[in-house]
Amino acid sequence: MGFIIEEIIEKIGLKNPEHAAKLSKNLAGLEAEIYPASESFFQKYYAYLEKEGKTIDFGIDCYLHMCDDMLIQRHKFIETGKYTSTSFDEVEKRVYGNEAIMTYHMHGLVLGQFLWFEQFERFKFFKENLIKYFPSQGKYLEIGGGHGLYMLGALELLPTDTVFDLVDISQSSINLAKGVIDNSKVNYTLKNVFDISDEDKYDFFTMGEVLEHLEDPIAILKKLANLIGKTGKGYITTPINSPMIDHIYLFNNETDIREVFDKAGLSILTEKIVISEHISPKLANKFKVPIMYAAFVEQKK
Ligand SMILES: C[S@@+](CC[C@H](N)C(=O)[O-])C[C@H]1O[C@@H](n2cnc3c(N)ncnc32)[C@H](O)[C@@H]1O
Repeated sequence: MGFIIEEIIEKIGLKNPEHAAKLSKNLAGLEAEIYPASESFFQKYYAYLEKEGKTIDFGIDCYLHMCDDMLIQRHKFIETGKYTSTSFDEVEKRVYGNEAIMTYHMHGLVLGQFLWFEQFERFKFFKENLIKYFPSQGKYLEIGGGHGLYMLGALELLPTDTVFDLVDISQSSINLAKGVIDNSKVNYTLKNVFDISDEDKYDFFTMGEVLEHLEDPIAILKKLANLIGKTGKGYITTPINSPMIDHIYLFNNETDIREVFDKAGLSILTEKIVISEHISPKLANKFKVPIMYAAFVEQKK
């Protein structure tokens, strides 16, 4: 055994063999790319766990807890065709403001970034394109930084004199991101994206998997279109048919997402869509299987 991710899958197998088998099946043929790509992130995550007096067993328990939540949410979603949450205030109290829930949920997501191939494809797409859309120097903002992976990617790729700001509504997420990133160049602020001042300007924003947590995604995208002005760019990802304990806004397909971007005054520079199982788009649509959607955007000309 060479890579940390292999140890993680083996340990998941001891607690939930069916789930580990499914992970291995989904990752089959992708190991040579994903395993080495995950190593430095998982090394940082292990170091953070050690500092906190924890081991990877803690992360694995969190991950399996999150997967149980997802199963329950999926059953309800298939029954009703809706996400269970409708109110941002309710989710804020129940999830973002609840340290215990937020901790296992975010640690669970840490592992998902490389155990789930569509999540890896989302990160790969980000790394392949970020430098193309970032000016030679400037200000970079990440909204909902969560586990820190995307900020680590930005730190690796962008010029050293870049200003790196991260905002998140949850203190647990900020603690995790700070611990994993472990880089004093990043400024962290506990803030709801809606409370970012209209006077603030950035050359680039990244907002991964946050749009579906909001009641009114158009309102926030209009704000972000203003934040980047005529020359800035952004990277946005949001899932389709992906019920979770904190998801509010349901995108049924990629057309729904494109329409929201359009209404907010954003145009798409390039986009990527990956189904989370190895099945056809027709089957994914029929069985409402989660789909990863990612796009680089700018203000409409
Ligand atoms: C699913 S995680 C996404 C983590 C990471 N950005 C990614 O792409 O995988 C969502 C993160 O967004 C944060 N968040 C949710 N609603 C937010 C809001 N209104 N303003 C700022 N952060 C928010 C949550 O606390 C959490 O850390």
